[in-house]
Amino acid sequence: MKINQADIEETLITKSEISERIKVLGNEIDAYYSDLLHADENLIVLGILNGSAVFMSDLIRELQTHIAIDWMSLSSYGSGTKSSGVVRVLKDLTLDVKGKHILIAEDILDSGLTLSWLVKNLKTRDVASVEIVSLLKKDLGKAHDKRVSPKWVGFDIPNKFVVGYGLDYADRYRNLPYIGVLSPKVYE
Ligand code: PRP
Repeated sequence: MKINQADIEETLITKSEISERIKVLGNEIDAYYSDLLHADENLIVLGILNGSAVFMSDLIRELQTHIAIDWMSLSSYGSGTKSSGVVRVLKDLTLDVKGKHILIAEDILDSGLTLSWLVKNLKTRDVASVEIVSLLKKDLGKAHDKRVSPKWVGFDIPNKFVVGYGLDYADRYRNLPYIGVLSPKVYE
């Protein structure tokens, strides 16, 4: 069955806005790492499955820095729309990251639980540095904002249930080429 367009209440960020922003992020990331990496060194771009797969594939094609890619699969959500408070490692790194510069590419910073756990975990592996680029950052209000700070954020967004461009609801909608707000009718 095809996606029903009525399931998406509002387009929050269009396909072309996403691609323009990723070009800018790519330039900024190249500039930041140009002095940091030796000629024979790769930046490790670490994607967090499944959500970041789409962002990661577009981002790396805007980078001119030598990179190696790796993936981790983590789960911070049980079922439904609320964080469970537990991070499970479903797939660990494949590369040896000791002494390497790591750039985590995430699709969304929501509660921040996944990223704060991951940054701590990577630091125990003696990496040279860990930075984060997150395509989206949800506004949870200042009172709640003790989350990790990504060095690069694509878009600050309102605290709404967003899908598309890698983000899902119950595994669906990842294949939308834009970011949209899911209609509550879908999950209520
Ligand atoms: C989502 C998203 C982030 C995480 C952010 O992943 O992709 O990884 O939640 O939430 P947090 O800031 O509250 O920790 P999810 O566990 O839903 O898996 P998915 O990427 O496969 O959709």
